[in-house]
Amino acid sequence: MQPDRIIRTQDVIDDDMVRQLMERHVDSGQYYGAHAAEKWAGISATHPMKSLQGVSLDADAGTDPLCVVDLGPGSGKPCVAVTTGFRDRIARIVCVDVLPAMAHQAAQEIRNQTGKTVQCIIADFLRDADELRREIGALPERKVLLCLGGTVGNFRQRYILSILRSLLGERDRLLLGMGLYATGREKEVLDPFVRFLASEQNCAFGLSFLAACGHVPEYRNASAAWEDDPEESGVKVVRGYYTFPGPAVLTVGRQLVACAQGEQLQFVESRRYSRGGVEAFLQRHGLAVRASTDLGIQGLFLCQKSEEGSATGTWQAPQA
Ligand SMILES: C[S@@+](CC[C@H](N)C(=O)[O-])C[C@H]1O[C@@H](n2cnc3c(N)ncnc32)[C@H](O)[C@@H]1O
Repeated sequence: MQPDRIIRTQDVIDDDMVRQLMERHVDSGQYYGAHAAEKWAGISATHPMKSLQGVSLDADAGTDPLCVVDLGPGSGKPCVAVTTGFRDRIARIVCVDVLPAMAHQAAQEIRNQTGKTVQCIIADFLRDADELRREIGALPERKVLLCLGGTVGNFRQRYILSILRSLLGERDRLLLGMGLYATGREKEVLDPFVRFLASEQNCAFGLSFLAACGHVPEYRNASAAWEDDPEESGVKVVRGYYTFPGPAVLTVGRQLVACAQGEQLQFVESRRYSRGGVEAFLQRHGLAVRASTDLGIQGLFLCQKSEEGSATGTWQAPQA
């Protein structure tokens, strides 16, 4: 077993957690603390996005050896499930996660189930994208990047999609798992998901970062709501909030963050995309869909970097 490649040290992870808490907007910080990995493993078995199946690569994806790079592998099971169709071509698998325990848990599951060589990179695949690009770029094989379980929907779209695109070489592929809704019937998907996000079941994992910071969270203080994504047409965003029932002091390493009674902290955001509109949406963000699989509640979209100024001509590099 190779030692981890550590791009993001615990000190930097702690500093970033403090910043997210101070901004009252947690993203990767939801996966913080000693118990987040085991709690995620528990909830992922019943999570709305859990059902996956093997995908085939498109006809232009060659026959050469592949390196699978799982960006946020979670339990590792999704990686095992989606790669069954091209397993023979895989030379190695890389688990990239901001939480070391999550990367290790996933790597063990993937190793056990596939028998492949699995490496871990401890990094924030967004904030550490430049170093990560160099790291995976140095590996000789064509890459298949995975970003599954709706992770792509947890961040502002122009931010995460431009970074994912920047991690792709010309011959590489990116497999995205994206939650879907049917136009005119959005409430059928979004209302149950709102209830799920604020449920005791989800909060056992979703608020575990607060326990890791010394605050005992009470799930009844969680709430969620959905709206149109103000930045992306055809995209709905669900946000989950925690309201502090009294004054709280959160401890992160040696740093403290004070929160007042009644203050709200956004602990999650998640997006759902209009079924039938995803290809055009991804094209606007510089990704060409080569193949897709509709699994009902979510779709799997196999993408390739599209040319700048390509067919639609609508993609523009975001400002730094
Ligand atoms: C929603 S879970 C999805 C897990 C898995 N892919 C699945 O399909 O079930 C998000 C995963 O990404 C990781 N993660 C979240 N934000 C991250 C970031 N910015 N950089 C690296 N890993 C991140 C989490 O630790 C977790 O493993």
